[in-house]
Amino acid sequence: LNVDVAIIGGGPAGLLLARLLSQAGASVIVLERQSRDYVLSRIRAGVLEWGAVETLRQAGVGERMDREGYVHEGVSLAAANAAFRVDFMKACGQPVMVYGQTEVTRDLYEALDRSDGVVVVQQAEDVQPHDIETERPFVTYRKDGIEHRIDCQFVAGCDGFHGVCRQTIPKAMRTEYERVYPFGWLGVLSRTEPVSDELIYAQHERGFALASMRNANLSRYYIQVPADQKAESWSDNEFWDELRRRLPDEAAETLETGPSVEKSIAPLRSFVSEPMRYGRLFLAGDASHIVPPTGAKGLNLAVSDVRYLAEGLVSALKDDDERGIDIYSARALDRVWRAIHFSWWMTSMMHRFPDQTPFDRRLQEVELRRIRDSPAAQTLMAEIYTGLPYDGNF
Ligand code: FAD
Ligand code: DHB
Repeated sequence: LNVDVAIIGGGPAGLLLARLLSQAGASVIVLERQSRDYVLSRIRAGVLEWGAVETLRQAGVGERMDREGYVHEGVSLAAANAAFRVDFMKACGQPVMVYGQTEVTRDLYEALDRSDGVVVVQQAEDVQPHDIETERPFVTYRKDGIEHRIDCQFVAGCDGFHGVCRQTIPKAMRTEYERVYPFGWLGVLSRTEPVSDELIYAQHERGFALASMRNANLSRYYIQVPADQKAESWSDNEFWDELRRRLPDEAAETLETGPSVEKSIAPLRSFVSEPMRYGRLFLAGDASHIVPPTGAKGLNLAVSDVRYLAEGLVSALKDDDERGIDIYSARALDRVWRAIHFSWWMTSMMHRFPDQTPFDRRLQEVELRRIRDSPAAQTLMAEIYTGLPYDGNF
């Protein structure tokens, strides 16, 4: 098979890229290691920046999101039992959309089933890009015991943090930046009414807690736990008790509890691998960077990378104009580093660190009071949380 672009990884980055390229008339193949059901059962991000919302609409996958998603015009930040609201509309004039990554992924798969020039292969084994430093790269994989070869003009590495694409770039050609945090998030999904209409990010002596949601009868909650813990060692009751201790009193008193329908631990890490291009291979999303979830940026960065990459690839394929792909890495990394900084800042402000001194605690408390009392500080927080403009220079 010969296609314009071979996309490795069928998560949100790979699927959205396939959709945007197919809308522009390019031919693509998506090679995903897992089954579709497996990909759709992974519970991950829940908050979309406004620019991501508009990108999904332009990709023709916004209809169900606009019908079933929840527009949030503010968020609660809490400390020592006192919560305050950051009003996004007042602070920066744009809201966010609460719509799960699972739903975004489902909408994209369904749109791709109807798209021209798109082949999606699930359960592709041993996917490997070759000759990416040449004009004629190709990708090999195995499916049902049969070896396949795909010739293409470009390869997109959208295969997440543990994928093969980043490793294909010679070590000497990339620089990695990393911070691993000494804790994780234990997340629970439950068929209960969300405790609040808006998200609550809570700083607490015992550790961070987050109240989020998927819909009127589906809640998503997280608590900070030590990095070495296992989700199975937490009973539902232990989780609810700990969450209740950390949420502001008003929320804790009205919290509806029930059996968990999903329970998992995500480690917290900041990671960037530069550059995002090597020859004819382009990395996008988690394949090239990871943020801790506190800033709700992981999925949104995948969307902005893909937007820039699609633009560049379409010009290269249609008009033989490579300027867009030449600046792709620098353009995407500018936005990536702003999100890396924001996610590190939110994480540092909200979590309990094992080696923290009383001095450090006081700094965290005053930082939250500064946001509470300063419209300027709220604007700074809100404009990044709800999403910097693409190519914005702040
Ligand atoms: P992925 O979603 O990881 O997709 C990569 C795809 O590539 C996967 O489907 C994988 O199966 C496939 N793949 C991997 N290797 C290969 C291979 N060799 N061959 C073929 N296919 C391959 N963000 C938030 O904002 N909030 C959250 O609460 C949150 N929770 C998270 C929890 C977990 C456990 C993880 C891992 C991430 C979480 N994130 C969260 C981050 C967010 O979900 C990611 O940033 C987002 O999924 C990035 O999309 P992606 O398409 O780049 O990568
Ligand atoms: C969710 C996850 C996040 O990391 C976040 O910052 C906000 C919401 C969620 O899963 O709903």
